[in-house]
Amino acid sequence: MERELSTPPAAERLSAALTTRWLGRSYEWWPACASTNDLAGERARAGAPAGLVIAADQQTAGRGRLGRTWHSPPGANLYVSILLRPSRPPPEIPPLTLLAGGALASALAALGFAPRLKWPNDVELVEAGRRRKVAGILTEMSSAGDRALHVVVGVGLNVNGVDFPPDIAERATSLRRAAGRPLDRAAVLGTFLNHLEPLLDEYERRGPPVAIAAFEAHAALPAPCRVTAPGRPNERLEGVALGVDPDGALRLRDETGHIHRVLSGEIQT
Ligand code: BTN
Repeated sequence: MERELSTPPAAERLSAALTTRWLGRSYEWWPACASTNDLAGERARAGAPAGLVIAADQQTAGRGRLGRTWHSPPGANLYVSILLRPSRPPPEIPPLTLLAGGALASALAALGFAPRLKWPNDVELVEAGRRRKVAGILTEMSSAGDRALHVVVGVGLNVNGVDFPPDIAERATSLRRAAGRPLDRAAVLGTFLNHLEPLLDEYERRGPPVAIAAFEAHAALPAPCRVTAPGRPNERLEGVALGVDPDGALRLRDETGHIHRVLSGEIQT
């Protein structure tokens, strides 16, 4: 497969793809940075408004969930952080990960893919009969008392990357691998933001049920699964994932019929 670098999603190219009112209308594109989530956090503390989107061609310290690193080579993928200032209280913020996943899955479906969401933050595509991760979401909040000061929703989407490091090679894929052709990163990012804005507006009005519905629309539930607790691979729960509670917890029925609420964990399907 050819590995030429893809055209960067510079501001004017993203702007041409946007139909949003407020999301992505303020935009920073960086050739490289440590982590776009860190940059967005800095901008937030300096008073930047909600809707700012920061993207980088490469991250030197891209972060994933559970303290992992996010593979962020140059010239191929999307590493994007979105600054939000929701008026919802802190306990209602974690479902924003589900909402962003739902928006991304809708956007990818509109582009002709068949994405599936894996709780809580993975977007997957089926390749040769196996589910592989194409994107991940990392939501970070800064709060004071019962107020969320700002939220950064970070999205890593493998667009045109075709080679992955050995530790994730068996589990990762990209849009390019699925489509058999390269995709324009500005068009993909624009489509995602166009799907995200109306959901965010609705979430602002109605809260977590909007996020749960957006997630469940692409989550392929009920599904048999195994869940391990973060950092405790031997503590395993097996059952059928039924759905997601309003606080974002996964509802899982074990073989005795008992329903568990999983607040944090890693699913193996
Ligand atoms: C995960 O699946 O573990 C979440 C991955 C999130 C990666 C994105 S890339 C853009 C933003 N900046 C980061 O450092 N992380 C997120």
